[in-house]
Amino acid sequence: MGRMIHILFVLVFVVALWQLRANATRYQPNWSSIDARPLPGWYDDVKIGIFIHWGVFSVPSYGSEWFWWYWQGAKSKSIIDFMKKNYPPGFTYADFAPRFTAELFDPNEWADILKASGAKYVVLTSKHHEGFTNWPSKVSFNWNSMDVGPKRDLVGELASGIRNRTDMHFGLYHSMFEWFHPLYLADKAAGFKTRKFVEAKAVPELYEIVTAYKPEVIWSDGDWEAPDTYWNSTGFLAWLYNDSPVKDIVVTNDRWGSGTPCHHGGYYTCHDRYNPGTLQKHKWENCMTIDSGSWGYRRNAPLSAYLSMDQLIQTLAETVSCGGNLLINIGPTHDGRIIPIFEERLRQLGSWLKVNGDAIYSSKPWKHQNDTVTPNVWYTSKKTEKCENYVSTTLCIGGTAVYAIVLDWPKTGLLELGAVSPAHTTTVRMLGYSGGPFTWSKRPGGGMVVEFPNIPTNQMPCQWAWVLQFDNLP
Ligand SMILES: *[C@@H]1O[C@H](CO)[C@@H](O)[C@H](O)[C@H]1NC(C)=O
Ligand SMILES: *[C@@H]1O[C@H](CO)[C@@H](O)[C@H](O)[C@H]1NC(C)=O
Ligand SMILES: *[C@@H]1O[C@H](CO)[C@@H](O)[C@H](O)[C@H]1NC(C)=O
Ligand SMILES: *[C@@H]1O[C@H](CO)[C@@H](O)[C@H](O)[C@H]1NC(C)=O
Repeated sequence: MGRMIHILFVLVFVVALWQLRANATRYQPNWSSIDARPLPGWYDDVKIGIFIHWGVFSVPSYGSEWFWWYWQGAKSKSIIDFMKKNYPPGFTYADFAPRFTAELFDPNEWADILKASGAKYVVLTSKHHEGFTNWPSKVSFNWNSMDVGPKRDLVGELASGIRNRTDMHFGLYHSMFEWFHPLYLADKAAGFKTRKFVEAKAVPELYEIVTAYKPEVIWSDGDWEAPDTYWNSTGFLAWLYNDSPVKDIVVTNDRWGSGTPCHHGGYYTCHDRYNPGTLQKHKWENCMTIDSGSWGYRRNAPLSAYLSMDQLIQTLAETVSCGGNLLINIGPTHDGRIIPIFEERLRQLGSWLKVNGDAIYSSKPWKHQNDTVTPNVWYTSKKTEKCENYVSTTLCIGGTAVYAIVLDWPKTGLLELGAVSPAHTTTVRMLGYSGGPFTWSKRPGGGMVVEFPNIPTNQMPCQWAWVLQFDNLP
């Protein structure tokens, strides 16, 4: 009898321990628990993603992806005039949807272009504020890409194109609110005390896209009018992190309700084009656009609105040096093309990263983010291990490589750096340049002066910014 009780005790104890452990690793639906989840490591390593804004707004492709809102919400005169001039009376926003044809959309071709950029993740709008879902959602009757327009599952096709042909991570943008959804407007009129829209639409959609497409990024947006309790954001995130098919790999952003950006969730986006220029404590992302005036494709963009490669590399350098990821947006056309200027920027970026990727991928911020005397020099660093084989053993020496991304070629051929204090053994070389290490000297007053050789233009390692690698710094 005593023995039985003993065994029973041990059993109860083991079960209790097991439950305690299970509970400890489960996230609770509150911010202190959700915020404590470590960000999956892949995200900080990859540094660069491509954002894609595609939807019914790509049909008028005029102004911006906020077309419907400017037309019928803000009643912008330029949009009202545009509609009067170009469309028959009585034409509604819904009438644009059949013209969202996507007949030239080839997910494999997109995958190849996106991969060529050197970016390592993709974030596609599954649904923007207009409410049109780019997948056959069960809760978006006749306002989705299978019923109207393309008659295709755009999300599913791009996911499979990306996964078949690249090792990029596939992510989805999702707008919580919809400008004109009647249930949303009713909840809003009730001061968000009712939650009909969330229960019927926003949350079911999130569960649908996670279950069907297993996105590795959930990029939430359109959250700001209502508190996170209205959206049940912590409830969804607890499920996402505990029980969803992507629970261990998924990363999320911070747009989960008014007041949450820059405070709660996964990585911080704070606001569009966030680029603080100083080191941040929490992992963050700078989401920005190649067409500086719009996220969706707009036919009325002048050439000057498109970022040059110099501007793009500058933004990349500033962002990565300060611990951020860069999410670079393109807007495809209604018929499914990535226009040549977007394609060119993406391929140019890829060509730069082929030479200079060591300074970007898996890098860490250094003790200085930019130089202290010369403007437009941004630093990153990386742990290195150099191994040499001897007869009987391999000797490995760990160190840190420091990279300086130099945006302006020094006019005098001499680059003064205040932030880098060299030792005798310090070496400086330029990534992609085979002509050997650069000569340097100590700078009076601290730092160093690096001599740039006269490299013939046809032997330049790259065209837009040059990277110096420093080894053996003290
Ligand atoms: C939030 O979750 C944590 C577990 O991480 C728990 O200890 C805490 O009591 C919860 N807080 C609230 C207010 O429910
Ligand atoms: C990806 O590969 C699967 C399996 O071979 C195939 O069924 C699917 O159509 C491919 N996707 C694309 C976009 O080609
Ligand atoms: C919030 O989400 C959780 C997890 O899906 C669910 O269990 C809970 O019922 C939801 N709460 C409300 C108020 O909708
Ligand atoms: C370095 O960056 C900071 C913050 O962006 C800026 O204030 C400072 O002027 C920069 N330093 C130089 C030498 O340009």
